Amino acid sequence: MKTRPTTQVYSNYTKQDFLVWKTLFNRQMDVLAPIVSTEYLKALEVVKFNSDKIPDFTQVNKLLSPITGWGLQVVPNISPQKEFFEFLSQRKFTATCWLRSMEQLDYLEEPDMFHDVFAHVPLLSNHAYVNFFKGISDIALKHINNPRAIELLGKIYWFTIEFGLIKENNQLKIYGAGIISSKGETECCLSNKVIHQLFDVQTIFNTDFRTDILQEKYFIIDSFEQLYNSLSEIETLLKHSLTPVV
Ligand SMILES: [Fe+2]
Repeated sequence: MKTRPTTQVYSNYTKQDFLVWKTLFNRQMDVLAPIVSTEYLKALEVVKFNSDKIPDFTQVNKLLSPITGWGLQVVPNISPQKEFFEFLSQRKFTATCWLRSMEQLDYLEEPDMFHDVFAHVPLLSNHAYVNFFKGISDIALKHINNPRAIELLGKIYWFTIEFGLIKENNQLKIYGAGIISSKGETECCLSNKVIHQLFDVQTIFNTDFRTDILQEKYFIIDSFEQLYNSLSEIETLLKHSLTPVV
């Protein structure tokens, strides 16, 4: 794995970085605008992201802090699970601050800041969304040394925060960050080539996923409040799943 920056030094961004940000931002927004959740579009305005400026983490934190108390914690690469959930539980989202190259616009093996920041950060200004995020990380921390529990909670995270769909005014919309930052995912996730299922905790616990292909199955929520309200069910079903059958 490459050595990546551990702090954001804004003056280190090159013209090429600005061009990559602008290209990705414009390209994704062209496709996303009619099919992404209106909550995301509103949130994008709140954090003031635009195509001309790579987000400055200090400014983003200043904007988010009075709204939800969340902020960004720079990490060089994807965080180990324990560190990831510990930061989340402190209302800090771990984010990289480097950008892919022009040659890597469509595929990256590890998340860069276009994924971490463009796709994840705007909704950190949404109260119901971050309440769910905090709740799921608090549950994860209680079970951090239990690989089976972390695997099950990882499925919830995957099928909501990363690849979730939401029904708004009877239309399917995107809110998952793994879709928002991916041209391929954006193009296929609403099509009839994939399976759409209503959000259901037990079904998600029973569903496997792959990280190396476009997703084949997506779960639909009605609202972020529904996610938040599912936390007690997640905790209960998790306990049942971890209890050995005698
Ligand atoms: Fe992500």
